[in-house]
Amino acid sequence: MSHAEEHGGTRRDFLYYATAGAGTVVAGAAVWPLVNQMNPTADVQALASIRVDVSNVEPGSQLTVQWLGKPVFIRRRTEEEIAEANAVDVEDLPDPLARNANIDGTAPAIDANRALGETEEWLVMMGVCTHLGCVPLGDAGDFHGWFCPCHGSHYDTAGRIRRGPAPENLPVPLARFDDETTIVLG
Ligand code: FES
Repeated sequence: MSHAEEHGGTRRDFLYYATAGAGTVVAGAAVWPLVNQMNPTADVQALASIRVDVSNVEPGSQLTVQWLGKPVFIRRRTEEEIAEANAVDVEDLPDPLARNANIDGTAPAIDANRALGETEEWLVMMGVCTHLGCVPLGDAGDFHGWFCPCHGSHYDTAGRIRRGPAPENLPVPLARFDDETTIVLG
């Protein structure tokens, strides 16, 4: 099998459909190793690119997929969630950096620097708490975003840490829209 065929096979194998998984939240306190999670080599990235069909994800719901062995949250946010994220002064955030692999890593953590696409409707993040690696719960916490039950970290509707021991915002991985309903990770 040629390299190209192998690659094609990998991509098909990892094709996800939102139909069954829309709104799914990875629950509980599973621990995911943080080792090198955001720093795969170029080779690994190329092989590990996956396509996610998000056509059935409704506003206010979230799809969780596995990528590079870790959960990735793909949330389609409501107008209210976006407005809430934009109402925050970046200077007041515990972590003022965007933590977005698609842009300059030192960019400020305004919502537009966290969201995917121009409308800020979509938010794609690694579902791994930056404290000790638990999987945060969606639609939870004091800031209406995500809540990590392990030690009580609250993330807001842009996935930014607001309260609790987690030191950084949930990381945004390499991601892009391939067409209107397909997000490519990696
Ligand atoms: S692992 Fe999330 S708060 Fe400790």
